[in-house]
Amino acid sequence: MSPTALVNDGETPSGTPRLLIEFPPAAAADNASEISAITKLVNRVFIEGEAGIWNSGYVRTSDAEVADFVRKGQLALAYLASPALASEKEPDRKGQLVGCVCVKRISDSLCTLSMLALDEAYQGLGLGREIFQFVEDHCRALGCTTLGLDILVPTSYDHPLKTRMQAWYKRRGFRETRLADFAEEYPALAPLLSGPVVYRVFEKKLG
Ligand SMILES: CC(C)(COP(=O)(O)OP(=O)(O)OC[C@H]1O[C@@H](n2cnc3c(N)ncnc32)[C@H](O)[C@@H]1OP(=O)(O)O)[C@@H](O)C(=O)NCCC(=O)NCCS
Repeated sequence: MSPTALVNDGETPSGTPRLLIEFPPAAAADNASEISAITKLVNRVFIEGEAGIWNSGYVRTSDAEVADFVRKGQLALAYLASPALASEKEPDRKGQLVGCVCVKRISDSLCTLSMLALDEAYQGLGLGREIFQFVEDHCRALGCTTLGLDILVPTSYDHPLKTRMQAWYKRRGFRETRLADFAEEYPALAPLLSGPVVYRVFEKKLG
């Protein structure tokens, strides 16, 4: 498990909020209100981010899945750093929960990233980049040499966020390695898709 990482500590000169990102202890899986807050955040953000891709009835995750990820040490949580709550003894007090990302170790060399989500009110400020950097640093610290992720992209129209995400991943050094079969990997979810998609797998070599 990686140590807590204070990405930055207060506010940037431009007023951008600062993040505290950490893998909570496994016992946090038993904190029902915290788990529910994470689930709600992810589902809300993904309903917005994946608008048009799903028919009604789709939700990105559940309390049971989130608790499982937390118990396994796979879910990193991003909080606003709260200088107002900080003290000399505790300089990095956590404020509002604003994001999360799931990091799984698949093998000695491969980690994957999924369920990257940031509260809509804090998107577009560079905080997603901070979470991504945290994940890459964490995977390097584990000794992994490859970071993988996948992205579901509609093929019958341009989905602006998915187009932007793919461009972003490429700018971050990811390369598309293959097309996966979404229906094969998620047979229960495939019927909820509102139209045709491709399921692209990207990988980055961690230097
Ligand atoms: C994905 C997500 C976490 C990104 O967080 P974010 O804080 O909005 O992203 P950032 O502000 O750090 O920007 C990330 C990149 O996108 C670029 N970007 C941000 N807003 C943009 C916009 N409106 N148009 C084009 N590019 C934009 C930034 O320049 C940055 O690229 P760079 O690092 O090369 O400069 C957030 O948008 C989100 O939660 N989306 C919904 C869930 C989702 O789609 N998850 C991923 C599933 S594939």
